[in-house]
Amino acid sequence: MPAVHAIVLAAGKGTRMKSDTAKVLHEAAGRTLLNWVLEGVESASPQRTAVVVGHQADFVSASLPQNCEAVLQKPQNGTGHAVQVALAHLGELDPDDTVIVAYGDMPLVAGEVYRELAERVDDTVATIVTVDPGPAGFGRIIRDPDGSVIGIVEERDCDAAQKAITERNAGIYSFAAGPLQEAVARLTTNNDQGELYLTDVIAGLSAQDGEIATVAVGRTDVTGVNSHADLAVVQGLLRRRINRDLMEAGVWMLDPDRTYVDATVSVSAGARLYPGTHLQGTTTIGEGAVVGPDALIADSEIGDDATVDYSVLRQVRIGPGSTVGPYASLRPGTVLEAGAKAGTFVEMKNSTVGEGAKVPHLSYMGDAVIGDKANVGAGSITCNYDGYEKHRTVIGKGAFIGSDTMLVAPVSIGEGAVTAAGSVITDDVAPGALGVERSTQREVEGYAERRAARQRAKDAEGT
Ligand code: UD1
Ligand code: CA
Repeated sequence: MPAVHAIVLAAGKGTRMKSDTAKVLHEAAGRTLLNWVLEGVESASPQRTAVVVGHQADFVSASLPQNCEAVLQKPQNGTGHAVQVALAHLGELDPDDTVIVAYGDMPLVAGEVYRELAERVDDTVATIVTVDPGPAGFGRIIRDPDGSVIGIVEERDCDAAQKAITERNAGIYSFAAGPLQEAVARLTTNNDQGELYLTDVIAGLSAQDGEIATVAVGRTDVTGVNSHADLAVVQGLLRRRINRDLMEAGVWMLDPDRTYVDATVSVSAGARLYPGTHLQGTTTIGEGAVVGPDALIADSEIGDDATVDYSVLRQVRIGPGSTVGPYASLRPGTVLEAGAKAGTFVEMKNSTVGEGAKVPHLSYMGDAVIGDKANVGAGSITCNYDGYEKHRTVIGKGAFIGSDTMLVAPVSIGEGAVTAAGSVITDDVAPGALGVERSTQREVEGYAERRAARQRAKDAEGT
């Protein structure tokens, strides 16, 4: 079996984005545009993938997956020149090998298309991905009277008859390596832009009696990105594709148009996602988990049967059957063990909540370890920061933190200990003991009536 190699062109600038970021580095559904292309190309199982970089070469190179090789093209003298540079980098290839060439600004082309390109080349010298009717600006596919492809002409170089051709070049191809090497070496800059066009390779190959095949794709598959409006369209299409696959795999969604799942996220069958859910980065969602409405979860692990309502979670781990929200903010390093709870208006950071332990309402837990089955009463907080350093709070198993307790860290509450509501706890509390820090309540008898009488007297004076 001849090997497959891939060349992806990404040296161009993409000026209409009005952004400091290179066009191919803009993200859609959790991946850069370029990485979407590379993901598709990967379906063809290439032995090597050379990515031609130029504009913002350092950033683009740094964004590539491990198995890709960046090749610098400087200056950028056209797509044909880019392929020359990449072929020089790839070195000696078996003439029967297959070389796939793709442009880095076509994120929607599916993996199957690349797989098909890798297979087709055996009996043909080149295969071109086409779209009919294709968008304005795309190169026209030129066929002779018996239908054989004999060339591609760029729109700006077309005569009136060629301009009317609706079959157009998507910018993705596969070639037999030997003929491609010879054909790119023969390219000239004889065109409107004075560049080396990869598309001119087709006429060269056809003149050498090479048979050229085409693979047609749909118009939406070749939606390119030239502006932020285009980017939004592409994001919508990718999101729909991701959500369709998830639902196919057994994930329930009330409204897939308002559910935003990055390509990098994994959601188990039987999970339920409500509208306004944003799942990002390395997030994983367990079986039977219920997320949303309105949840932003980034780089987090949500266990089986856990629930997350109206909350923001970043870099946290939520154990099976645990519950979060509504209106919780769980910041990096937070861990809820099985069946634990971070309830309404609760903020946590770098804290572990043991199995079955609960922080149900209006609390801040920072740098805390909360033992299994402990309960933290409403309004309690850890005073973990003294203005200079962060300190730890340890709450033992089964401890009961009374409402509105201030835990001034570093401090430790023993197993099964209790703190009295409203206490400012600065010293450790021994296991099973009560920590209480507040003045004794006194009773003033008849106070209310005396106060009312004073007011009545004042009112009478006024009239
Ligand atoms: C190209 C095709 C056109 C096709 C269209 C589909 C050519 C000459 N034309 O036109 O037939 O219909 O794509 O999208 O190939 N690049 C480099 N180095 C360069 C020039 C470009 O790496 O020197 C990269 C760009 O970053 C881009 C890709 O090649 O990712 C295509 O270049 P672009 O200028 O966008 O070509 P189009 O005018 O779109
Ligand atoms: Ca383009």
